[in-house]
Amino acid sequence: MPLEKGLVIVHNRLSHDMYQLEFISPEMAARSKPGQFLQVKVNALNTPLLRRPISIYDVDKSLGSITLLYKVVGQGTEAMSRIRTKEYLDVMGPLGQGFNTSPPGRKILLIGGGVGIAPLVYLARVLKAKNYQVKVLHGADSRRNLVAFEKLREIGVDFLPATDDGSAGFKGLVTDLLATKLKASQIDYIYTCGPDAMMKTVAAYANANQIPGQVSLEEHMACGVGACLGCARQLKSSDREMVKICKDGPVFDIQAVEFSVQGEVSR
Ligand SMILES: Cc1cc2nc3c(=O)[nH]c(=O)nc-3n(C[C@H](O)[C@H](O)[C@H](O)COP(=O)(O)OP(=O)(O)OC[C@H]3O[C@@H](n4cnc5c(N)ncnc54)[C@H](O)[C@@H]3O)c2cc1C
Ligand code: FES
Repeated sequence: MPLEKGLVIVHNRLSHDMYQLEFISPEMAARSKPGQFLQVKVNALNTPLLRRPISIYDVDKSLGSITLLYKVVGQGTEAMSRIRTKEYLDVMGPLGQGFNTSPPGRKILLIGGGVGIAPLVYLARVLKAKNYQVKVLHGADSRRNLVAFEKLREIGVDFLPATDDGSAGFKGLVTDLLATKLKASQIDYIYTCGPDAMMKTVAAYANANQIPGQVSLEEHMACGVGACLGCARQLKSSDREMVKICKDGPVFDIQAVEFSVQGEVSR
């Protein structure tokens, strides 16, 4: 599996626990597809031992760079936040199955919750470059965590935020924004990533309106390459087979997944 040490050229704190890190790796950038992820070694020590999976947030092929967006939630991401510019980031990837970047229809809706916006931004860039009409809904607790706003504006897609506290855009859940402000006839294909409760509601909406789409799932990972069964999960309770989120996913068709929500991991 391709390993790379990429020179970190940007590492910014975007809000109290969200960071953006850009590093140079022309070959990895050329191979990366929206929805794929990298296994990041968060520091030079072996503590924590395991690499951490982080989505490819954006790619600049002309510069040969990859950008990551991450939220500090524990030891690994906290160690990552201490990496400095001009240091080298040890990454493995790109890994996993990415999004379908040739969806049917022209009217495309992307719905991200929290840091679940991360894999949708490069997707927005690629779809926009193919002349799809792309609308992005992003739900966050407040304005300060609508961290993808600048990139989405630069890409030139329609952006509709929803915040819990009403500090920007729609006041309330991003799924309420979907249900009350959008018509199903305006959507040919849906992509979503975020907390399971959010994706469950989006999937129910897609199914009720017979809109095809894809979801990006999250699971605790160890190897990240299909070798350890650490991320094995049943997509539906009726499925006989387990899938490996790292190798068979993290992207799956929205109709293939049943969200039970209780006790499941979320971003
Ligand atoms: C395919 C994939 C892509 C991801 N992309 C991103 C991304 O772009 N940006 C980002 O910020 N995060 C992303 N994540 C989640 C990220 O990998 C975890 O937040 C990170 O591994 C936590 O490491 P830690 O050592 O800081 O926290 P830990 O100390 O390991 O855990 C802290 C808390 O986070 C929870 N947690 C840990 N790992 C996961 C996980 N995989 N899913 C859900 N909850 C978890 C733990 O249960 C615990 O409550 C992604 C995960 C996957 C599987
Ligand atoms: S993390 Fe090892 S099989 Fe998926």
